[in-house]
Amino acid sequence: MANIVIVGAQWGDEAKGKIVDYLASDKEMVVRYGGGNNAGHSVTVGNKEYKFHLIPSGILNSETVCVISDGVVIDPGVLVKEIEGLHAQGLSTHNLKISSSAHVILPYHRLQDALEEKRRGDSKIGTTGRGIGPAYMDKAGRIGLRLGEFVRKDRFEARLKALIASKNELLQNLYGADPLDADEVFAEYQVYADYLRPYVVDTSRLIYEAARGEKGVLFEGAQGTLLDIDLGTYPFVTSSHPIAGGACIGTGIGPTFVDGVIGVAKSYTTRVGSGVFPTEQLNEIGHYIRERGHEYGTTTGRPRRCGWLDAVILRYAVQVNGLSCLSLGHLDVLSGLDTVKICVAYKEKDGTLITQMPTDLPYREDLEPVYETLPGWKEEVSDVRTYEDLPENAKRFAKRVEELIEVPIATLSVGPGREQTIIFEEVVRARCSKRRNG
Ligand code: IMP
Repeated sequence: MANIVIVGAQWGDEAKGKIVDYLASDKEMVVRYGGGNNAGHSVTVGNKEYKFHLIPSGILNSETVCVISDGVVIDPGVLVKEIEGLHAQGLSTHNLKISSSAHVILPYHRLQDALEEKRRGDSKIGTTGRGIGPAYMDKAGRIGLRLGEFVRKDRFEARLKALIASKNELLQNLYGADPLDADEVFAEYQVYADYLRPYVVDTSRLIYEAARGEKGVLFEGAQGTLLDIDLGTYPFVTSSHPIAGGACIGTGIGPTFVDGVIGVAKSYTTRVGSGVFPTEQLNEIGHYIRERGHEYGTTTGRPRRCGWLDAVILRYAVQVNGLSCLSLGHLDVLSGLDTVKICVAYKEKDGTLITQMPTDLPYREDLEPVYETLPGWKEEVSDVRTYEDLPENAKRFAKRVEELIEVPIATLSVGPGREQTIIFEEVVRARCSKRRNG
């Protein structure tokens, strides 16, 4: 079986958890490879909704080994709560493994995140406030604390206290904030360390073995392509690598082990936080999408900015992730509109058309989206289970997306439930079920 990466093709919140949950049952292992508890995945099974921030959605399959790998930054208090929440719902975490190389988010990271956003004023990023950026800054600055050291009784206290002493200088002198009490932080965090210790292992070896095995591995991306620190709409991005390549960097497997990449996109576009959004609809269309799509953040509850589907962005996602196929979701949200639009290019002031994503998009407020307008469909589609039963105009919309991005659609989703997914078995088989190497 193949090793597959699931990646967000837009600005995050594409409902990747649902496709991960669907594919996980066949896999030996599901690996979360980047980001932290800035992410939020909801998976609906029957009439029960499960919410995750750090634990891979694959945990709902009791046979699947779930790994939080090196590329993730972990807020220990949040992870403990998530594990406890699963136990309270009768779910087991015996198959959960956490990388000893993953970095720990500490209280000063959250403080720094909030204080830095305040300092930026109008040019703030609109972060989730979870300390993600500062934790990755410390990792790159080689002053981070890794899980392996966090759970070592002989090392944690001294390391933490030294780190807090130097961070207090920053908090007081740069931001004019109160210092942290190192003893208090240690008392709280050593409880988390004790709780998490049994889960912490060298995950890169485990992943390597599973990637060579019969059933294969599913790599679960968080956030989305356009939030990538290098390839996204910088500086309004997160601080990790949500793109498919991040699955290699964040886990320690080589690129030859990746056999397929599934991009996940909504039938429209959303974004939270600041930054460029060419197809944003600050009008009744945006409102219609937000209310029908329940477009409020899983993590922060913030209303998401909403707009039409942007094929320029999707083509870029095809390019930088090497997408094998696309999972197109939230088709049901667009029901009831007279017409639906897809952005196919951007237009400069002098009329020049741009059909490929410009790297200076974050500063191109001058660009105007060029839309193709398609007829809408009035029918509700959330009960439709086969492609044939979809309204003709919904089929036409999906076909047009496929043509514009030159990548086949593997699944079409008409609601949050497991059963509300139309699967194109032949596409999944052809693109995502065979080992290419080794
Ligand atoms: P941070 O990751 O909290 O530093 O936030 C940086 C930017 O990424 C902000 O615009 C956030 O709203 C956005 N972001 C981070 N995680 C997610 C996510 O899971 N979904 C959507 N946007 C996200």
